Amino acid sequence: MDKLIVHGNSTLKGTINISGSKNASLPILAAALLTDEPCIIRRVPDVSDTNYMLQILRALGADVERSSGTVRIHAANIVPEAPYDLVRRMRASICVMGPLLARLGQACVSLPGGCVIGDRPVDLHLKGLKGLGADIDVEGGNMHFTAPNGLKGCEIDLSGKHGPTVLGTDNLMMAAVLAEGRTIIESAACEPEVVDLADFLIQMGAKIEGAGTRRITIDGVGSLKGVDYTVIPDRIEAGTFMVAGVMAGDGVTLNRVNRDHLAATTRVLLESGHLVEFNEAGDRVTVRPGEAPQGCNITTAPFPGFPTDMQAQFTAMLATTSGISVVEDTIFPQRFMQCAELKRMGADIRVDNGTAIVTGVESLSGAPVMASDLRASAALVLAGLRARGKTEILRVYHIDRGYEHIDEKILQLGGAVERVRE
Ligand code: EPZ
Repeated sequence: MDKLIVHGNSTLKGTINISGSKNASLPILAAALLTDEPCIIRRVPDVSDTNYMLQILRALGADVERSSGTVRIHAANIVPEAPYDLVRRMRASICVMGPLLARLGQACVSLPGGCVIGDRPVDLHLKGLKGLGADIDVEGGNMHFTAPNGLKGCEIDLSGKHGPTVLGTDNLMMAAVLAEGRTIIESAACEPEVVDLADFLIQMGAKIEGAGTRRITIDGVGSLKGVDYTVIPDRIEAGTFMVAGVMAGDGVTLNRVNRDHLAATTRVLLESGHLVEFNEAGDRVTVRPGEAPQGCNITTAPFPGFPTDMQAQFTAMLATTSGISVVEDTIFPQRFMQCAELKRMGADIRVDNGTAIVTGVESLSGAPVMASDLRASAALVLAGLRARGKTEILRVYHIDRGYEHIDEKILQLGGAVERVRE
């Protein structure tokens, strides 16, 4: 297993390009199952999560070719069963359920396990697909879906106790585009990645209105065609490097961003006293540390609120920002795995029932730390860049799930980081 060695007191400066969005790519790759024509999808980041998805599509019978960021998928003849040994590795593989059911009238996908950020139920996905007329039988850890009378449009409210569901909205949308009649999704997720999937489906010939709002209307069509599509920039990678730029930078510029997708992240950076400047087009941003940054409070919320996927990175920033900050994760209340490791580096954080009380300290000290999940691991890299001395981050495969060549990008910005293959 590789480890990353991050040398502290780095000063990041210069410009990098942000990759395509992992969380937009995953459902869009699955949506290529909805047509028997070839699809070209561009700017798919080369991370293990997207590569798992490509393996699943191949196992389902699709022809898949990748050359750097461009993927060609031709799902001419496919089978309904996704292989357990691949599905169990990545929760997002559940977003093949909707397309398989829509295309084949049946699907068999293993129940995704939980993960360190919390229990990952799929009840809302099942509620949506049942609403369209699917029969669901859970047997031996697998979910067997059949639609003996085909899928028929319906009106479904998809809200759960933690709010809307991103992949649940995706699955229902992908099943509904080939269903008979009209489907209305109430309490739909509004994340930019959901809008990107809707745009991909519309380009394929789907009839979808309201993506990006809480109410999405889908009118089923007979079939969909192959398309050539470019996914949106990764707003979480961009946000992560914006935090790097204020923690350990002196002028970091990011190309290929989308200002509208970064509004909540930008708001908190400004509130904390840092400098954030977008160009006119909003596709380039430069960040600089403020003169006297102050702690601030953060509560995660569904888009357009503050993203839970940025919570760990901001906890690392607040750990070295003077003042007391309260960070609450309403979406994944257990998502504070980074805090124990940050405390090993000298952070002063108390975690209690979905909230972290962070008291800023003057500095952190480098230490061997353990990556645990994707965003917590990114937070440890940020802390290592700011800390005194050397930080060794073990189990780097967690970071490689969602950050494309993170070490190369840090080196490009002048940071001192090395990947050690073990
Ligand atoms: C997506 O996961 C993202 N993953 C996650 O990013 C992100 O943290 C999450 O949305 C929230 O924004 C991808 O897009 C691949 P949810 P998803 O269904 O769709 C509960 C990362 O770091 N819920 O929106 O699986 C759930 O427990 C990853 O890139 C139900 O109760 O998340 C959570 O509390 C991590 N029942 C809340 O809803 C369900 O059937 C939101 O989850 C489904 C979800």
